[in-house]
Amino acid sequence: MVSDSSMNTVLAHFYVFEGLDGAGTTTQAERLVSFLRERVDRVDIDREPTPGVIGTHVRDILAGRRAADHHSLALLFAADRREHMFDPESGVLARHEQGTHIVCDRYLPSSLAYQGVTCGFDRVVSFNGDIPVPLHLFFLEVPVSVCLSRLAGRSEREIFEHEAFLQKTLTAYDAALEHIATLGTTVHRLDGTRSVEEVHDDVCSLVR
Ligand code: TYD
Repeated sequence: MVSDSSMNTVLAHFYVFEGLDGAGTTTQAERLVSFLRERVDRVDIDREPTPGVIGTHVRDILAGRRAADHHSLALLFAADRREHMFDPESGVLARHEQGTHIVCDRYLPSSLAYQGVTCGFDRVVSFNGDIPVPLHLFFLEVPVSVCLSRLAGRSEREIFEHEAFLQKTLTAYDAALEHIATLGTTVHRLDGTRSVEEVHDDVCSLVR
């Protein structure tokens, strides 16, 4: 269930969805959870930033309710992630060891891409250390223009949801995905402009 690549632990039943804001990660994570629940006993859906103390603080910053400089924010994302992974009772690692499958909306590549733009890729890698990685990662490829038109319907906008920044982030995702692949993750790049059903079918055939 758990295998070691060169340094990082690779978690076989930890599935991560990534993409720009508006790419559809939340919808696809929920759909995969429904699919897995019919097949395995225990499935959790998680997200980063988490609902914990640090994650809640991060969401306040993203929503513009609190201020923070970019490096502090990158460190907060990394701290939230470590707690999410390593909490002895509720962490991903603990649940994974008990046989739970965990589907997560965003993880390390979000930091490598978004904070890579603001703080530099190498610094974000060092902030995140040797965190375990998922065996399967699904990257929903959606052009910035499509993401922005999807986001236009939402009432609340966050600090990163702007065209120029998202364009840089999309480019930064290439290095982020390349990096996590070297840690043992299988990266599946999917065309996220298709219907929810078509993307979901691809995801299911890849995890089957
Ligand atoms: P998102 O997951 O899209 O949540 P919501 O649907 O509630 O808006 O938003 C989280 C934002 O945080 C998104 O812009 C990506 C950003 N983010 C980072 O910049 N770094 C990270 O490490 C993570 C996990 C998210």
